Amino acid sequence: MNITIIGTGTVAQSLAEKFIALSHNVVLGTRAPEEKKADQIPNPITGRSFQNWYRVNNNVKLAALKDSAQDADLIVNATQGVVSLELLLEVGRPAMAGKILIDIANPFDTSKGVMTICNTDSLGEQLQAAFPETKVVKSLNTMNAYIMTHPESIPDQHNVFLSGNDLESKREVKLLLKSMGWKDEQFIDLGDISTSRGTELLLPIGLRLYAAFGHSNFNFHIQTANQ
Ligand SMILES: NC(=O)c1ccc[n+]([C@@H]2O[C@H](COP(=O)([O-])OP(=O)(O)OC[C@H]3O[C@@H](n4cnc5c(N)ncnc54)[C@H](OP(=O)(O)O)[C@@H]3O)[C@@H](O)[C@H]2O)c1
Repeated sequence: MNITIIGTGTVAQSLAEKFIALSHNVVLGTRAPEEKKADQIPNPITGRSFQNWYRVNNNVKLAALKDSAQDADLIVNATQGVVSLELLLEVGRPAMAGKILIDIANPFDTSKGVMTICNTDSLGEQLQAAFPETKVVKSLNTMNAYIMTHPESIPDQHNVFLSGNDLESKREVKLLLKSMGWKDEQFIDLGDISTSRGTELLLPIGLRLYAAFGHSNFNFHIQTANQ
C-alpha cells in the first residue's frame, strides 16, 4: 500500500519505520523537504535528529505537502493538532478525496498547555467537516508513539479506540493496525467521529500520568464490570 504520513516528528517516524517493515511504500509530507533532510536538531523524545533518522530510513520518501498524497492509498495525520487543518489544506482536498485519513493528532497548544478544541467540538470533527470527501478515522492518539507501533511492549491488556463515520474505513484501519500487532480484543469502536471529543480529552490525563510516572510507557485499559 502507498501510505502518506503528514508530519515528520516522533509519531511520523515511528509509523514510517513500522510501515516500511510491513513492506508498504511511505511518503512523509512536510513543509520544506530539503531543509528537513538537513535538520540536525535532536528530537526531544528520541534524541535523534531528523537527518540522522533519515540516513537510516532513506527508503522513506520526503515530499512537499502539496505533492505528498496524490498517489496515496491511505493518509495519516501526524502533525501538531493546532496546525493540522492548515497543513492538510496545503496537502489539498483533491489529493485526499475518497481516501482514509487516520487522524492521530491532538489539538494541544504546547506553548499555553491547553486543549484548543474541546467539549463541544474536536479536531477529528473539524477535519471531517473540512474534508467531506475524505473518511476520517481517529485512532492511536491516546498512547505514545512507540506503543502505537509496538503494542506488545505492554504485556497486559490495553486498548486502542476508533472514531469515524464510515464503518468500512474503520474496518480497514483495524486491519492495518492488526498487521502492526494490535489484537481484536484491544479495539474499542466508540462510534462516529464526534466521539473524538472523548479520546482527544484523554491527553490532559495522559500528561498528568506522564508527570506522575516520569515516563510515557503506559496505555489506557478499559475494564468492564461483570453484569
Ligand atoms: N508524540 C507522541 O508520542 C504522540 C502520542 C499521541 C498523539 N500524538 C499527537 O500526534 C501528533 C504528532 O506528534 P509528534 O510528537 O510527532 O509531533 P511534532 O513532532 O511536534 O510535530 C509534528 C509535525 O507538525 C508540524 N509542525 C509542528 N509545529 C508546527 C508549526 N508551528 N507550524 C506548522 N507545522 C508545525 C511539523 O511538520 P514539518 O514536517 O513540516 O516540520 C512536524 O513534523 C500531535 O498532534 C500529537 O498531539 C503524539
